[in-house]
Amino acid sequence: MSVSVLFALLFYVATLLFVAGLARKIVQYAKTPAPLKIPTTPAPTTRSGVVLRMAREVVLFESLFKGTKWTWLFGWVFHVSLALVLLRHVRYFQSDVWTVIELVQPFGLYAGFGMAIGLLGLWGRRIFVERIRYITGPSDHLILALLVGIGITGLSMKFVHHTDIVAVKSFFLGLLRFDIQPLPGEPNLLIHLFLVAVLMIIFPISQLLHAPGVFFSPTRNQVENPRERRHVAPWAAELDK
Ligand code: HEM
Repeated sequence: MSVSVLFALLFYVATLLFVAGLARKIVQYAKTPAPLKIPTTPAPTTRSGVVLRMAREVVLFESLFKGTKWTWLFGWVFHVSLALVLLRHVRYFQSDVWTVIELVQPFGLYAGFGMAIGLLGLWGRRIFVERIRYITGPSDHLILALLVGIGITGLSMKFVHHTDIVAVKSFFLGLLRFDIQPLPGEPNLLIHLFLVAVLMIIFPISQLLHAPGVFFSPTRNQVENPRERRHVAPWAAELDK
């Protein structure tokens, strides 16, 4: 079997596991009852206030900022850089690239360094801060290593040994039409893609689930109105009947 076919199969399997696994988890989160009213106070007293609070949490990492400034700094730099890098990658999946994706290209490129710096800071915290090292397990190190590996192999393709990005694009556009095109064989590209597939596969069974999970966190998504409205979880309402 050629490398192109092998990687095509790998990406089909990874995409299936990523999408199905993530959907399953989101349904599970949505169905999990929140029996108690536990918004972290001071909390908004209206629905729109909660939407605003959640937006600040997702975009600015507000509660982390209130907690630890260094973790906030490295965490925020990593996530914003990751978002820019991912936007830059959209060009591999579109034949006619949107203007916004074209505009983001230079930012996405340098964000590759931001990603690496953020990750190294977060990794340093797990190694050097005693109280964090105590709660760090092998999977935390492995996920950081995986992301650093993706970043380094990606940057190496831009700054050390180029790959044929036109061929990479035809390969991925081909996958979308179930038409397998040849993939360039440079080791840094193959390692980059292999690590990305591993990331997609472990995503729905790892701590990376904090991404969808934040939206389901009762301490963040509840309105502070226990005096105005009695809080009854759906299953408790069933018992009342
Ligand atoms: C199937 C998905 C992916 C493909 C096809 C892909 C492909 C590539 C290619 C061809 C480059 C070199 C760009 C150039 O030479 O101009 C690159 C760079 C890079 N990739 Fe990926 N990649 C994928 C997913 C990811 C993911 C999920 C991440 C982050 C978690 C990532 C992080 C990076 C970084 C940081 C760079 C260096 C900066 C840049 O050139 O954009 N890649 N990728």
